[in-house]
Amino acid sequence: MAQKDIGNKVPLHTLRTTNEVRDFYDDWGNEKKYDQDMCDWNYTGPKEVVDTFKSHVTKKDTLIFDAGCGSGLVGQALRDQGFLKFDGADLSQTLLDAIPPNLYRSLYQVDLNQSLNIPDNTYDAVTCVGTFTYGHVKADALNEFVRITKDGGLLCFTINEGVYIDSGFDTKLATLENDGVWRKLEFFKSDYLASKNVNAWLGLYQVTK
Ligand SMILES: C[S@@+](CC[C@H](N)C(=O)[O-])C[C@H]1O[C@@H](n2cnc3c(N)ncnc32)[C@H](O)[C@@H]1O
Repeated sequence: MAQKDIGNKVPLHTLRTTNEVRDFYDDWGNEKKYDQDMCDWNYTGPKEVVDTFKSHVTKKDTLIFDAGCGSGLVGQALRDQGFLKFDGADLSQTLLDAIPPNLYRSLYQVDLNQSLNIPDNTYDAVTCVGTFTYGHVKADALNEFVRITKDGGLLCFTINEGVYIDSGFDTKLATLENDGVWRKLEFFKSDYLASKNVNAWLGLYQVTK
């Protein structure tokens, strides 16, 4: 799969280490530049995920963990659809600081490639948008997302098309299904960042542990 440059100062696909990724977003988040770019580029990932999620969830007080929440675009999309209770976690403190007050219930600065300090079966659902991409969060993080989600809960996420096979997401998704850890409800190619010719797989899975 060809790697695509989304036109930012550093091509996303060149990021290798967690520190490089953190510095990249700390810089991009300054003066709301990330939000402005996403608006200018017609980034549809958050809305596509929340629209898919809401078609399977009726309870507006469902408790959601937004993994890689960034500046809060998914939180805003959740709020726009009437969802009331969601926590966020991200690597970049600059992006976390950019989130409007009172949008998320709680916010955590974490590395999602590490074990999460969250008890088993805490959440009804996990959303993760734009975070499974080059040098960011690895497929094994899905184990933690499943662990913190209640039986019958939902995981809704995007995977950049460029890392889907090369970083083993295809294998990971199939293994979790074959092991009976979850079942697939939706899986399709979303627009995501179509204006930059970047698309993402969008998956919605139900935990069956
Ligand atoms: C493309 S942004 C998406 C942000 C937000 N979900 C959205 O849709 O606007 C990717 C996010 O992943 C976060 N991220 C990258 N690596 C991470 C890691 N190891 N742990 C936690 N967050 C990470 C970045 O800080 C950034 O906020």
